[in-house]
Amino acid sequence: MRIGQYEFKNRIFLAPMAGVTDQPFRRLCSQLGAGLTFSEMMSTNPDVWHTEKSKLRLAHHREIGINAVQIAGADPIEMAEAAKVNVSYGAEIIDINMGCPAKKVNKKMAGSALLREPDLVADILNTVVNAVDVPVTLKIRTGWDLENRNCVEIAQIAEQAGIQALTLHGRTRSCLFNGEAEYESIKAVKNAVSIPIIANGDITSAEKAKFVLDYTGADAVMIGRGAYGRPWIFKEVNDFLENGYYAILPTEEKCRFMLRHIQDLHQFYGEEKGYRIARKHVGWYIENLAPNSTFKRAFNALESTKAQLNALESFVEDLLD
Ligand SMILES: Cc1cc2nc3c(=O)[nH]c(=O)nc-3n(C[C@H](O)[C@H](O)[C@H](O)COP(=O)(O)O)c2cc1C
Repeated sequence: MRIGQYEFKNRIFLAPMAGVTDQPFRRLCSQLGAGLTFSEMMSTNPDVWHTEKSKLRLAHHREIGINAVQIAGADPIEMAEAAKVNVSYGAEIIDINMGCPAKKVNKKMAGSALLREPDLVADILNTVVNAVDVPVTLKIRTGWDLENRNCVEIAQIAEQAGIQALTLHGRTRSCLFNGEAEYESIKAVKNAVSIPIIANGDITSAEKAKFVLDYTGADAVMIGRGAYGRPWIFKEVNDFLENGYYAILPTEEKCRFMLRHIQDLHQFYGEEKGYRIARKHVGWYIENLAPNSTFKRAFNALESTKAQLNALESFVEDLLD
């Protein structure tokens, strides 16, 4: 799988997820086999770039591999400027978000709202591609709603503009996250253009990843929520695609990855913010390792990184006993 000059070790990617795919999570997923990971989306509004939140979103670690940074906006010139600034900060791929369904984002015509404006899409893509030397990729949904599924048209616009890979989430904007992702549209897009296609939506197991790759003919798959609390899904998918089977990682190893992840989060965000950010990840890990609502409630009441680590270490000890 290639995007521009970059060749990836496999074709299983981590989705950009605001509030989730920060530096520690991207790094862990890369170590466990994700071929490419994307940053949380960055606003193209320069007024917010200096904020602590933006600075943390921009942070990269060499162990993550190729640094793909996602930008969201609606103004072609502003987006091109944001792409240039991100490249100067070290972005090696610029990904453009035209899939976000959030009202706050769509009100400004950004994210999936752009799918209703193919001319503006063309303008944005051409302007950004011409502004930077790195590959520019695009992430979309299948359309605004079921009556207006225009992903093939958008894919053709993207190809003409010089977009080097297209991620397609198999839902329309109006579907939000409801129902099931459909892969027929992804297959249609794959057949309509010759740029690499990354299939996305509801891939939660190695078997599903293989099914989606086979069914759509996509060049890669992208996993989002399926990696919540189980970053080792990337290893499972890789093993399955390579060997036709995969081993379940021993609980002890899973716990080791969880503890390392939580320590990384604490370090990355610091004492004040670290324990808050860790809560949702721990909730997902517990859900996967051994669902325990009493422990989760008690854990969420803890207000320091040290107390969290102590609680998790005891939880792991009990689990492995
Ligand atoms: C919490 C959350 C945050 C997300 N943030 C982004 C984002 O910043 N940019 C983006 O393009 N998509 C974002 N998405 C969409 C995902 O990248 C992905 O397209 C979607 O979750 C479907 O894939 P999945 O079924 O594997 O989760 C987000 C999804 C979730 C659940």
